[in-house]
Amino acid sequence: MDIIIIKQDKLILSVFLLWTAGIIDGNDVNQIPILWKDKEQNATIHCSHTKDASYSQMYWYRQRPGKGMKQIVFTTTSPPHQYESGFTETKFPAQKEDYKTGSLTVVKLLPEDSGVYFCAVSQHSDTGD
Ligand SMILES: *[C@@H]1O[C@H](CO)[C@@H](O)[C@H](O)[C@H]1NC(C)=O
Repeated sequence: MDIIIIKQDKLILSVFLLWTAGIIDGNDVNQIPILWKDKEQNATIHCSHTKDASYSQMYWYRQRPGKGMKQIVFTTTSPPHQYESGFTETKFPAQKEDYKTGSLTVVKLLPEDSGVYFCAVSQHSDTGD
């Protein structure tokens, strides 16, 4: 997972509070890429896995501080990708060029884009799983 933090946003404070309270410990921090971005920039998040080629489907989720996790998009190596309502391809262009990897870009960052972004992979439904 990746955390996008928009500078100059008050959400930065809540992350620091979690950090100093020990809720995010050093081990976790090393594993969590934190992208510090300026407003109006684009942020691209990459995801890859080591499972076999049947895991060719990738989901992207966002969790804003204090909110539930929301699915942004479901991607496969055969676009078009399926966007959930409230999320558009213009704002969240996704790439899925092979079964192992994928990426999600958040275009023209706004303070409300701050949050934790997750990816998940699943098997193609043809495998019967
Ligand atoms: C952000 O992405 C959009 C859409 O791909 C592109 O038009 C724009 O030039 C990018 N902006 C920056 C700052 O890279």
